[in-house]
Amino acid sequence: MLNIIIFGPPGSGKGTQSAKIVEKYHLKHISTGDLLRDEMKRQTKLGKEIAKYIDNGMLVPDDIVIRELQHTVKKNCDRSGFVFDGFPRTLNQAEMLDNMLICNEMPVNIVISVDVREDELLKRLLGRAEDSGRSDDNEEVIWKRIEVYKSQSLPLVSYYSNQGKLVRINGMDPVEKVFEKITLAIDTYLLNKEVLVEVN
Ligand code: AP5
Repeated sequence: MLNIIIFGPPGSGKGTQSAKIVEKYHLKHISTGDLLRDEMKRQTKLGKEIAKYIDNGMLVPDDIVIRELQHTVKKNCDRSGFVFDGFPRTLNQAEMLDNMLICNEMPVNIVISVDVREDELLKRLLGRAEDSGRSDDNEEVIWKRIEVYKSQSLPLVSYYSNQGKLVRINGMDPVEKVFEKITLAIDTYLLNKEVLVEVN
């Protein structure tokens, strides 16, 4: 099984790159953001609860996110691995994923951290806002999401770096160039079981 986490601030290209990774390596893409937005669209009681957090750029409580994730993983145990996009986002979620044994074994093999400057994040997300229809794609909430990323998610960089699983990718280049760097990191892992520290 090959399990990859794609990690980075809002607008760093996690969703864009995940779609390309799953196509090339035949993995299952799990975006917790997409799972939560689907629940919101269904206008269920849970969806309305989730909206209170997403609309304000805050993290949805771990118990809700973990339930959604486990449900999707369970349905896809026959796949050769997963790309986790937007999960984990807190140390608690990371520890939970380390201990998750839904598909017999669920080791995280490689964590790809995509680094992008804040001015570029804002530019990309405001650009996307024109047609995304996402309730959190407006300038005030985008800044809130970036702050939440820095305070609650950034500690995961040292968590995974200490486990020897983190590769930092410079995400400032165009989509195809960033993807080339990601494939270099994944192929190096697959061939040599070596995790590159950085690909610039
Ligand atoms: P989520 O859906 O995960 O959103 P996010 O992290 O804010 O990230 P985005 O989807 O905005 O950006 P991205 O990095 O995927 O970039 P993308 O490829 O789309 O989470 C949303 C909310 O859900 C959270 O705020 C939270 O409330 C909740 N949530 C989700 N997971 C949770 C969890 N685990 N725990 C608790 N709460 C959770 O690209 C963005 C734009 O840039 C696009 O227009 C794209 O075309 C463009 N672009 C991409 N790459 C490039 C490039 N290289 N050059 C130029 N443009 C580019």
